[in-house]
Amino acid sequence: MPTIRVSMTDSQFKALSKIIYDRSGIHFPDAKKYILESRLTHRLQELDLEDFDQYVALLSMGPYQQDEFQEMFNRITINETSFFRNDAQLDVFEKQILPQLLEARAKTRRLRIWSAACSTGDEPFTLAILIHRTLGIRLSDWNIEILGTDISEKALNVALAGQYTNYSVRSTPKMVLDRYFKFDGRLYTLNEDIRKMVSFEKHNLKDRLAAKRHGIWDVIFCRNVLIYFDDAMKNQVIGMFHDQLAPDGTLFIGHSERIKDIAGKFEQMPIPQGFCYSKVGKMARIAA
Ligand SMILES: C[S@@+](CC[C@H](N)C(=O)[O-])C[C@H]1O[C@@H](n2cnc3c(N)ncnc32)[C@H](O)[C@@H]1O
Repeated sequence: MPTIRVSMTDSQFKALSKIIYDRSGIHFPDAKKYILESRLTHRLQELDLEDFDQYVALLSMGPYQQDEFQEMFNRITINETSFFRNDAQLDVFEKQILPQLLEARAKTRRLRIWSAACSTGDEPFTLAILIHRTLGIRLSDWNIEILGTDISEKALNVALAGQYTNYSVRSTPKMVLDRYFKFDGRLYTLNEDIRKMVSFEKHNLKDRLAAKRHGIWDVIFCRNVLIYFDDAMKNQVIGMFHDQLAPDGTLFIGHSERIKDIAGKFEQMPIPQGFCYSKVGKMARIAA
């Protein structure tokens, strides 16, 4: 059945964008109305709804509300990602942060890494590959925990399947492709050794309690997500990362993301191209 575009009035947009913001912190400015309109039009048709007023009503009440939120986030989130995205930053992780951490955790041999808002898993799997090739046969001596979380169940299902298109691996070095993937002429399937290093869970960055339940992390990656939040939500999320990061831990954010909002809690580490942060005071503690 062809999709007939249902137009969204300004007041419907206002109501819907408020619901989305309250639930997830994702901020849709007026100029992005067309995104909601185009991505949800087909959903209205599937649900046999006449207009966005009915959709707003469905999200605001009724027994299907919860399921519909999930369905909506599957459609409105922007899941752009890839393996080895921003290799300069990954280089910093592999060559500087990881060796320091392995030394600092030599006694417990336990390392915990959270890839928050990981989309289809490309980022946590990339980190697993870097750790796998760094530790080599020593990997079995370590308890490495890598968790990938996202609000989109649809994106997480791709991660669980472990199969990727050419587009996802476009920045992956050939040696890595040959060693860690199997190509069947259409899809790249990630090796089991890497897949079993990462677990996935649905998590909304607004949910502080769930974050608390996951405990303390040595490294948190949260790249290319803060751009979708307003200042209030950014502060909330950064505060949560501050609570959940080990005193000597490292936070990586996207290279184009604003840092002013995290001042006071984190300070940028003096590593060119790293876009990584430590808790305020860590650098001074090391220098002392
Ligand atoms: C552009 S992708 C970034 C993926 C990966 N971090 C990277 O840099 O390649 C942004 C992801 O953030 C997720 N996201 C947006 N709002 C979220 C929220 N409130 N809680 C959890 N994930 C969220 C989206 O579903 C999407 O998969």
